[in-house]
Amino acid sequence: MRKTVIAGNWKMNMTPSAARAFVEELKPLVAGKNGCDIVLCVPYVDIATAAEAAKGSCLHIGAENVHYEASGAYTGEVSSSMLLEAGAEYVIVGHSERRQYFGETDHTVNLRAKAALSAGMKVILCLGELLEARQAGITEEIVSMQTKLDLAGIAEEDLSRLIIAYEPVWAIGTGLTATPEQADEACGIIRRVVASLYSEKAASELTIQYGGSMNEKNAAELLAKENVDGGLIGGASLVPAKFATIVAAAD
Ligand code: 13P
Repeated sequence: MRKTVIAGNWKMNMTPSAARAFVEELKPLVAGKNGCDIVLCVPYVDIATAAEAAKGSCLHIGAENVHYEASGAYTGEVSSSMLLEAGAEYVIVGHSERRQYFGETDHTVNLRAKAALSAGMKVILCLGELLEARQAGITEEIVSMQTKLDLAGIAEEDLSRLIIAYEPVWAIGTGLTATPEQADEACGIIRRVVASLYSEKAASELTIQYGGSMNEKNAAELLAKENVDGGLIGGASLVPAKFATIVAAAD
């Protein structure tokens, strides 16, 4: 059986003191929700505070990106060992905002994923098509290509610590959500590519999330789809009550 994972991506929101208050407010709202794993991916400077506040609860903490080198002259970057020591267990790589605004490519996404996995982190790898691709009818080609390029060189045994988040770019922060059928179809395409690259077993065990304007109102119907094993949530993850409602839908 696949694990359902509900993850918040705070993006560039929340100071450390706000992060502490958020975690304190969220903890009782999700206590005992053991039907899914709950992750908060937070800005680097919030990791230590959030991890400390989350201690003893069912909340896991993650980062929003990671560099692929272990250390060195890479001003402004952060390594896996730094994230782990600060308290991050998970890390997002390949988010569309990194690809769009910061020149991230499938090659660098792949390097970051491999580095984080070999350091022992759990990776949430994001991919998804642009609106132009969907309108041109090439969603399957784009999503398949990204899956192949982003997973290149990753060993099957490491897939147990990898989650793929299907995030159609046109649905991120726009209020436009993929329909449950569109989300299911794209997650199913990714799963078939993983089966072809690895094995049916690896594909059937892989957690594939949907992300893009998932919220407390639409989560249940998206999560009910066979190929949708969780959510990566932006805006609605910034409000404890909304995020907890999504967790309850998954639980
Ligand atoms: P929104 O939920 O705000 O659309 O963001 C989705 C996202 O980018 C999660 O990584």
